[in-house]
Amino acid sequence: MRCDTLWSNARLVTGVGEGLGLVERGCVAALDGKILYAGPALDAPPFEATSTIDCDGRWITPGLIDCHTHLVHGGDRSQEFELRLAGASYEEIARAGGGIVSTMRATRAASEDALVASALPRLDALIAEGVTTVEIKSGYGLDGPSELRMLRAARRLGVERRVRVATTFLGAHALPPEFAGDADGYIAMLCDTLLPQVAAAGLADAVDAFCEEIGFSLAQTERVFQAAAAHGLPIKLHAEQLSNLQGAALAARYHALSADHLEYLDDAGVAAMAQAGTVATLLPGAYYFVRETKQPPIAALRSAGVPIALATDCNPGTSPLTSLLLAMNMGATVFGLTVEECLLGVTRNAARALGLADTVGTLAVGLACDLAIWDIERPAELVYRMGFNPLHARIWRGQ
Ligand code: NIG
Ligand code: FE
Repeated sequence: MRCDTLWSNARLVTGVGEGLGLVERGCVAALDGKILYAGPALDAPPFEATSTIDCDGRWITPGLIDCHTHLVHGGDRSQEFELRLAGASYEEIARAGGGIVSTMRATRAASEDALVASALPRLDALIAEGVTTVEIKSGYGLDGPSELRMLRAARRLGVERRVRVATTFLGAHALPPEFAGDADGYIAMLCDTLLPQVAAAGLADAVDAFCEEIGFSLAQTERVFQAAAAHGLPIKLHAEQLSNLQGAALAARYHALSADHLEYLDDAGVAAMAQAGTVATLLPGAYYFVRETKQPPIAALRSAGVPIALATDCNPGTSPLTSLLLAMNMGATVFGLTVEECLLGVTRNAARALGLADTVGTLAVGLACDLAIWDIERPAELVYRMGFNPLHARIWRGQ
């Protein structure tokens, strides 16, 4: 059988079937950028490969997927970080006009080129660790032109680099100052004017909102979901990060791809997510960085069978984290996730959180041949180390 590239003599984390789907003596074959075969070398058909790469026993995983980032933004918030070190809380700073709105000012002042240029080093840091798919949200423009500019910048990053970019429209991230006292008016503008423009321009793959006391109410969030549904866009939600507004249950009612953060999620929310098949995307970087103490209900999510994803939440305010490997380590050490949960959280379940399970996230036949090849002896090493990158090679679409 003809194939373009054959990676032989490898050990595989396929993510197919139960658990990690480990294969000790495996190989992967790619044709036209897709996986033609991934499994035991003994069961493989005889391949006639244009090029064969001997992996020398290295481990191959699916290319990693960072399914929740705010990679595109102007400026940083290191000054706010110093304020927090001096005792101010994230919410206090937000209510005093800092927080997301301060990044909004920097983002509004940045050109599309500047947004792309400032995001590239962050994207490159993720790519260097084997990331082949990244989600990028808008939400620091908070007006029509700036939100559209952010989304165009995010799309451009997927042209500048060999990486798949899934974009998410997060207009409902914070209330911009020009709508002070009129959150309903802002939501109406988003739903009636901006979201239709975003959808018509094909600039968003999903729609997200920040459902929180310092964000938007449950009713406002539901309006955003209805507008997204009217334009055929799937939804996600920043839910239960700082308090419990029952956002995850609402998201589940609208068949959300994922509900994210979830520190304050209750049993009813867990049950609703389980029933809808909504992925729980956990963001240990944000938990760590704001020194949250309430843990997401891992045991309840686990026993209800809610799929768990892990992401960096890379953003300037609550998670200036550009390492998905470190997010995995934090998932294990801070949230008590198993190695298997961490690895599936940045591959199979992360793909599902983006609605891309039929495209990426496992080494299943027919999916994109996005691979990460690692200099490790055991898959657990990817979760165990802190600040060490054992990536040997990264393959995107078979190349
Ligand atoms: O995912 N929670 C809302 N959004 C971001 C934080 C944004 C910011 O502070 O700039 C998050 O944590
Ligand atoms: Fe976020």
